[in-house]
Amino acid sequence: MARLLELILNGRKHAGAVADNVLLLDYLRETVGLTGTKTGCDGGECGACTVLINDRPTLSCLTLAATAAGTRVDTVESLGTDGRLSAVQRGFHEKLGAQCGYCTPGFIMASAGLLRRNPRPSDAEIREALGSNICRCTGYVKIIEAVRHAAELHAAGAPP
Ligand code: FES
Ligand code: FES
Repeated sequence: MARLLELILNGRKHAGAVADNVLLLDYLRETVGLTGTKTGCDGGECGACTVLINDRPTLSCLTLAATAAGTRVDTVESLGTDGRLSAVQRGFHEKLGAQCGYCTPGFIMASAGLLRRNPRPSDAEIREALGSNICRCTGYVKIIEAVRHAAELHAAGAPP
């Protein structure tokens, strides 16, 4: 059965028809055309599909789109303003937190969710917040440095 899905998507009202069995990941990528959210394992193991629902990092490959009705959904496309990178985007860029970049949107959204909840996380809190995200390239040290740097940029006024 298809239903009307209404939510706030990347800060704007959004409405669209969606079948009950469509995953949020597929809805975002294939119906809305927001392809920044990546399909990795497609089974809840890698975090590449992470988006924020009401500021909470959520695996969109395990979430039915219909259950997002009435929520705020933010994808990686929501970050940055007026052509300026957000704190987390700058953190990953300036600290070389990405190599192939396939996992990066998921890490960035998990990190943005962390900084919205906890603007000054410890390294242990950063590691815990990114515990559901897998990277095959970087070895994680640069990613932790990127989030630490993002927290400093956020403290200096940059939106997460
Ligand atoms: S694609 Fe969702 S966790 Fe891997
Ligand atoms: S940068 Fe390649 S998988 Fe993370």
